This record gives sequence, structure tokens and C-alpha cells, in this order.
Amino acid sequence: MLSRTKVAIIGSGAVGSSIAYAMILRQLPVEILLNDIDAKRAEGEALDLSDSTFVASTTVRSVPASEVGQSDIIVITAGAKQNPGESRANLIDRNYRIMKSVMGSIQPINPKAKIIIVANPVEILCHIAQKLSGLPRNQVFGSGTFLDSARLRLRIAKTLKIHETSIHCYVIGEHGDNQFVAWSSGQAGGASILSFDEFQNADLDAITHEVARKAYEIIDRKGATYYGIGACVANLTESVLYDSARVFPVSCFDPRAQCYVSTPASLGVNGVQRAIEVPMNESEKEAFNKAVTSIKSITDKYD
Ligand code: LAC
Repeated sequence: MLSRTKVAIIGSGAVGSSIAYAMILRQLPVEILLNDIDAKRAEGEALDLSDSTFVASTTVRSVPASEVGQSDIIVITAGAKQNPGESRANLIDRNYRIMKSVMGSIQPINPKAKIIIVANPVEILCHIAQKLSGLPRNQVFGSGTFLDSARLRLRIAKTLKIHETSIHCYVIGEHGDNQFVAWSSGQAGGASILSFDEFQNADLDAITHEVARKAYEIIDRKGATYYGIGACVANLTESVLYDSARVFPVSCFDPRAQCYVSTPASLGVNGVQRAIEVPMNESEKEAFNKAVTSIKSITDKYD
């Protein structure tokens, strides 16, 4: 009998159920445990998702909070979401209270569990979840600027007519208004993005702003975002599951910054293996330090 890795998803709304659906379509051989404060919602999502598992060896069921703590991977999406025009930073007080309640309800936590934070503001909530869970810092990380970087690569791909998987350029700092693009190290097919004709006179700040505002544009039109983040978190889960050591821009504890910040890091069976210092020019270093200062100014209030 196949013993599947248990992946709990706390918060079975649009984001949590999209994450689960993306895991199924990626055919991850896991047992998905859906949990929600609204047990009926978790049950309904599990029943609906179970009708898609014929495409994979994934199983899915709803569980009470008491069954979550002993999972191998715990994805936390529970939290208030941005209203149209609202910044992610504005969610911290509400989502701190929710995180505290969630962490209390899932005790005891498997000491080997990896916790993936999706709720916002994700860097701050990673700091809080690591403190409350007591797990090693490498076992608690967040989706961070993975989604922003995917949005950036899509935008660059359209300009260069090169597939986004051949574009390596990262949004760094925070999954929020202090995010920035490490343009100076960005590459497409091994060449600097800034060396391409299409980028000789490009307004890089305008592109950075466009990427940072994409979530607001989506929320303004449909009320929430969930498919992109769903694909991202399924990808992160797969890298942990298969110990693949793939690199993603995630919210992780960065020894350089001595705080959780979004930066490329390799992910494996033990969570974050190494945070990678992307080469930055002076203005990018300033932007990184601004993001770190902003993150620390908030996490200091929750220590
Ligand atoms: C977004 C949400 C996940 O950026 O913060 O779409």
C-alpha cells in the first residue's frame, strides 16, 4: 500500500482549494488534508476535488485541526485577503490573530513538518509562524515573491518572445509594495536581459510597478487571486516532496538580513537548504535594505 506524504492545507477557500487542485493536476503522490474553520466548506471542497483525483494518485479529504499538526507539510492560507486597493501590509493585525489561533489549534506539530506560509503579509507571517511553531527556521518558509517573479517572467517573455522558463530574473525583497526586480542579474537564454534591443530604452520602473500591481488589477476585476498562487505552492510542495533542490524566490530566513525576506533559495526535503545572494547593483542593494528595514520594523512588534 502506497504510504503518501501528508500535506495539510489550512484554509480551504479559493486559494487553498486552488493549491490542492494544482497538486492533483501535477499528480503529486500525496494525501491532501483540507482544513477550514468552516468545516462544511472543507468537506465540500474535498468532495469536489476528489472527483478530479482519477487523473493522479493523489487523495484528498477534509480533517479537523487536530489531524493537521502531524502532517509532513502544512500549507497555511488562512487569513483575511486584500480588499480592492488594500495593501497586504494592512492585513497583519487580523492575520496575526488568525495565525496565533491556527498554531494553537494544530498542536502538537510534527517536529519534522515543513510549514509553507501563503497568507499575507507572508514574510511577517513566516516570522510569526516560526516563533509560534518552534520549528527550525529552515522548516518554515513562504510563497514570497515566487508569484511576483512568475508575473515578471511572463511580462519579459512577451517582450522578448522567449519562453518564461528560459528567463531567470527575480522579484526580491517582499511580496508587497517594497518588492523590487534584480534587473542587473536578470538573464534570458544566458544573456543579460538589459543587453537585448527591446530593453535598451525600456522603462524598467514602469515594468516593476506593473508586476507589483498585477494582484491589485486582478482583485479589482474578480475580487481575489488564486490560480497563480495555487500553481506556485504546488511547485514548492513538489520540490520539498522530491527533495529536488530547485531554486525559487521564497520568503525564507536570510542570514545576511537576519530576518525573513523573499530571495531565491533551494528547497528540499528539509525545507530551505540555502538562501542565495543574487548579485545586486547599488540601487538594488538600497531596495533590498529598504525591504529588510520595513519587515524588521513590523516583526519587532510581534516578538
Ligand atoms: C497575489 C496574492 C497571492 O499576489 O498576494 O496574487
